[in-house]
Amino acid sequence: MDEGIARRKQDHIDVVRERDVRSAMSAGWERYDFVHNALPELDLDEVSLETAFFGKQLTAPLLISSMTGGTAETAVLNRRMAAVAQRLGVAMGVGSQRIAIEQRDNRHFQVRDIAPDILLFANLGAVQLNYGVTPRDCRWLVESTGADALILHLNPLQEALQEGGDTRFRGIEGRVAAVCDALSVPVVVKEVGWGISAQVAKRLLGAGVAAIDIAGAGGTSWSEVERHRGTDPLLQAAASAFAGWGLPTADALLAVRAACPEACIIASGGIRDGIDVAKAIALGANLCGIAAPVVQAAADGEEQAEFALRVVIEQLRVAMFATGVSTIDELQTRPGLFQGRSA
Ligand SMILES: Cc1cc2nc3c(=O)[nH]c(=O)nc-3n(C[C@H](O)[C@H](O)[C@H](O)COP(=O)(O)O)c2cc1C
Repeated sequence: MDEGIARRKQDHIDVVRERDVRSAMSAGWERYDFVHNALPELDLDEVSLETAFFGKQLTAPLLISSMTGGTAETAVLNRRMAAVAQRLGVAMGVGSQRIAIEQRDNRHFQVRDIAPDILLFANLGAVQLNYGVTPRDCRWLVESTGADALILHLNPLQEALQEGGDTRFRGIEGRVAAVCDALSVPVVVKEVGWGISAQVAKRLLGAGVAAIDIAGAGGTSWSEVERHRGTDPLLQAAASAFAGWGLPTADALLAVRAACPEACIIASGGIRDGIDVAKAIALGANLCGIAAPVVQAAADGEEQAEFALRVVIEQLRVAMFATGVSTIDELQTRPGLFQGRSA
């Protein structure tokens, strides 16, 4: 076991549970308000949250975003979240599997036995492709996880603010393209909380990426996580200026949807309730990811994680009912859902 990576994984969970690591920036959802519909021409139980993503049926357009795994302790969290995902019919990603590649041992990322039907994503930092990880390694990762797709995360700012971070990002675009070529499953690229711009999204789609996860600013701030976790005063002081950095999720989502009308888009970063989910879908997302609140609840227990997600699902259902919208497709396509300046 690589003690460095194992310690870091536990630190991430501890810091996210114990410290305030929220971005100083807003994700932007408060700038959008639905027109309340006092006369919805439908019954609440007609509202369907069902959708499909990468050919798999989901009971709600929700993803437990990639967060953890790789140690016995963090594997427990993944397994709790996976059990919940299976029960609720939502998607899930395991956290960065770099440690599994390094150890050639994927045992602490296994969830398929308890979540046989979920849409499941493997995960790796794209920068690792510049540090010896090959497309073949990526294929092994997907197969040994039983994943339906691979998520590569882009985190240049996090690596820059981390002691000993992997900061050689030159040439990553071509290497991502090589992974897309080599894999028989779709490749998604995400950020970790500072967002993907329209220009970057276009480059990634051109490289063969099947979906973009915005992972924008407004939720968990990784400069704040690194500031609390770090021990180098210079990097900690540098990190403090970045608490409000990044592309707000709502803005980046709108920009990527406008630039790439046909793209498959996941919205994440600061999605905190079912109304945020409804807004993200109405602004062009196909799926919505939630990270920190789910792992915080999962650290308390499986029941707590399930309750947290059930609340989000119920809020989404009621928001759709009170907007007079009965399907996810309608929420994505019906014009005039927003009031006032956001209409
Ligand atoms: C404890 C924790 C660990 C994370 N680890 C990863 C990771 O290994 N890979 C990844 O792609 N993103 C990782 N993320 C980022 C999330 O997937 C997500 O993009 C980000 O936290 C924004 O979502 P949120 O505001 O809902 O937390 C992690 C987030 C948290 C809270």
